[in-house]
Amino acid sequence: MLTSHSFPPLVIRGRSLLPIVQGGMGVGISAHRLAGSVAREGALGTIASIDLRHHHHDLIELCRQSPDRATLERANLTALAREIHAAKVLSDGHGMIAVNVMKAVNAQADYVRVACESGADAIVMGAGLPLDLPDMTQGHDIALIPILSDSRGVALVLKKWMKKGRLPDAVVIEHPAHAGGHLGVTNLADLHDPRFDFLRVLEELDAVFTSLGVSRKDVPLIVAGGINSHEAVRELLTAGASGVQLGTPFAVTEEGDAHPNFKRVLAEATPEDIVEFVSVTGLPARAVKTPWLMRYLRHETKIREKIGALKHVCPTALECLSVCGWRDGVEKFGHFCIDTRLAAALRGDVANGLFFRGREALPFGTAIRSVHDLIELLLTGATRPAVAGRWAFSLG
Ligand SMILES: Cc1cc2nc3c(=O)[nH]c(=O)nc-3n(C[C@H](O)[C@H](O)[C@H](O)COP(=O)(O)O)c2cc1C
Repeated sequence: MLTSHSFPPLVIRGRSLLPIVQGGMGVGISAHRLAGSVAREGALGTIASIDLRHHHHDLIELCRQSPDRATLERANLTALAREIHAAKVLSDGHGMIAVNVMKAVNAQADYVRVACESGADAIVMGAGLPLDLPDMTQGHDIALIPILSDSRGVALVLKKWMKKGRLPDAVVIEHPAHAGGHLGVTNLADLHDPRFDFLRVLEELDAVFTSLGVSRKDVPLIVAGGINSHEAVRELLTAGASGVQLGTPFAVTEEGDAHPNFKRVLAEATPEDIVEFVSVTGLPARAVKTPWLMRYLRHETKIREKIGALKHVCPTALECLSVCGWRDGVEKFGHFCIDTRLAAALRGDVANGLFFRGREALPFGTAIRSVHDLIELLLTGATRPAVAGRWAFSLG
C-alpha cells in the first residue's frame, strides 16, 4: 500500500481512500484481478459488470451447451458474484470495490442486485442517466456514483435524487474528448464542447451545490479522461476535484485482466491510431484502429444504407443492450455485434477485436507496469525501475 503522498484522501461514504479511481472497463478488461489489486493499494477499484462469463471456463462451457439467453444471463450473474468475492479477497480489506453498470444494458437491474447482494462497496453507473438507481438499491448500504459529463447532467441527477432523499456518494465527471470506450455525448461533433472542460464543470458545480444547499464534502467529484501524469493529478486535485479516475493506464497494467495482446495494442497506439465512431448503442466511442474496426469504418456508410434499417437476430443470444443498432435496425447507430468484438479484444484477437482506448499518451509510454507503480507515479511523480511481471493471463 502507498502511504506517503501529499494529497487529501478521497472520502466516499465515510471511507478514506487514495484519491485514485480505476474506471470500470468491459468486457472483462477490469475484473477481479485489476479491481482487487487497485483496492489493495487503498484506492477504488472497479469491476465492469457486463458479460464477465468469459473469465470462467465452466460458465463458458455451460453457455456452449445451452446457448439460450436465460443461461447466458445466469452465467453472467454468477460470474459477477464470483468476481466481486475474488476482488474482495485480493483487496485484503483495503480500499473499495465498485461495480460499474451501464444504464444502456438490458440486465442492468440484475447486475445492480447481484452487486448489492455480493458485498460490492459501490455501484458506478453511466451510459445513460441513472435516475432510478436509489430505488434499485433500496435497503442496501452501498455507495452510489453516477458518471456524467457536464454540470447540467449533474444538477439534474442531484435534484431528482434529493427528491428521493438520497445524495450521490460521489460523481464521476468524464470528459468525452479524452476518455476511452463510450462517450457521454449524443453527437460526435460535440466532443470538444467547452461545457465539458474539467475546470469549467468544477466551477459551475460550486454554484449548483450552493443553490441546492449541498456541501462539496458530501458529494466528492472525480474527474476522468486523459489523466496521465503526476502534474495532471496535482492540477486537478488543486482545482477542486476530490479524485481522478483513469481507465486506459490501468487496463495496460500487469494486473489488468485482458490478454497481453490487448495491453500491447493500447500501449503501442499512437495518436493517429485512435479513432472516434458511432457505436451500436448510438453513443460515440473511442478505440484503436485495429484491422476489424478499419474495415468496418471503410464500409460504414454502405452498411448503413444497405442494411442499416433491417432488424437482425442477436448473434450471441445475450441481447446485451436495451437498444442495439444491429439487432433493432436503428439506421444512424453502429451496425455490428459489440459483445462479440469486445470479447475478441479481451482474448487478444487483434484481427477481430474492438479495442477501446482513451485518446492520450500513457504514463509509462509503451511499458507495462504494475498497479502499484502506476499509483505511485500518479501520486508522487516517482518512477522506480521496472521489475519482472508477476501475473500470467488465463481465460475460461
Ligand atoms: C477498454 C475500455 C473499456 C471501457 N469500458 C467502460 C465500461 O464498460 N463502462 C464505463 O462506464 N466506462 C468504460 N470505460 C471508460 C473508463 O472507465 C474511464 O472512465 C475512461 O477510460 C477514462 O479515460 P482514460 O482511459 O483516458 O483514463 C472504458 C474505457 C476503456 C479504455
